[in-house]
Amino acid sequence: MRRMSLPKAYVGLPIQEVGLAVLRGKIDYRIWESTDVPPRERVLEEVRGVEGLLAGIPIRVDAELFDAAPGLRVVSNYAVGYDNIDVAEATKRGICVTNTPGVLTAATADITFALILASMRRVIEANEFLRSGSWKNWEPELLVGREATGSTIGIIGMGQIGQAVAKRAKSFDMEVLYFNPTRKPEAEAAYGARLVSMEELLAESDIVSLHTVFNEKTKNMIGEAELRAMKKTAVLINAARGALVDQKALYRACAEGWIWGAGLDVFVQEPLPLDDPLLTLKNVTTLPHIGSASRAARDGMARKSAENLLAALEGRKPANLVNPGVWEG
Ligand code: DGY
Repeated sequence: MRRMSLPKAYVGLPIQEVGLAVLRGKIDYRIWESTDVPPRERVLEEVRGVEGLLAGIPIRVDAELFDAAPGLRVVSNYAVGYDNIDVAEATKRGICVTNTPGVLTAATADITFALILASMRRVIEANEFLRSGSWKNWEPELLVGREATGSTIGIIGMGQIGQAVAKRAKSFDMEVLYFNPTRKPEAEAAYGARLVSMEELLAESDIVSLHTVFNEKTKNMIGEAELRAMKKTAVLINAARGALVDQKALYRACAEGWIWGAGLDVFVQEPLPLDDPLLTLKNVTTLPHIGSASRAARDGMARKSAENLLAALEGRKPANLVNPGVWEG
């Protein structure tokens, strides 16, 4: 039931109770309770009279949605990435956009290492080998993989998550290379990270790990040329956004042995269709976009996205404003 005096909002996904507790009694909200993605028409209908929208990765927030919600003042994303939102359009219309940095950094860096180890040590393949009854003997060459310890990691995108990956890499005695638009002296001092060109990173790394934002400039940044420039023994890890990588080229790279394999938490199309050729390859480890799926991270995302929504609707500057110009202007 709506309470007339409170600002109205639509929560487009079933966020955790810790987030709803922030809103309760302060915001008149309706919530999409199902784990299915809300149909587009339903979202457009729900946002009609609201001032705030709490969105998530599967909800496209664009000019059509803004047209349907003339009173909208804030879109709070339940994610650190916000490529589901047309931020330029929001800014043009004076709508605040917020995200949830920080709370999912450790979880995403942890899953990156899970993918690194799974790919290099063939963990998923080994699990399936055992369960299928193929395990006959202890053999010297059984499921031999590559050693992560002491290898060279190339981190593309040295933001908070990239640096958390570098921190873990240091404890694995890895040499850390990075490619980033700006130098990160703090990562160089703490982890011995070295800023290199993309060419050097691809040529020298045993692990190439993506932690950069997705936009028109970074789309397909890893394509055929980049995959062919990697070592044949290297792995590609992607826990950022699927479309950073040309997925068809990646299939060929893994199938034809241009690289050793890949560990992927994200895909161009999500959910990844079950007939995708990547799923036929033993040297590709696939996860269903669970980088931030730890209890601590998801509760943190719920709390932060609710706090950002509430702040904007109460006229306070949200802590994680992606387009600060809207607030100042
Ligand atoms: C994000 O936050 O952008 C992740 O992809 C989902 O947690």
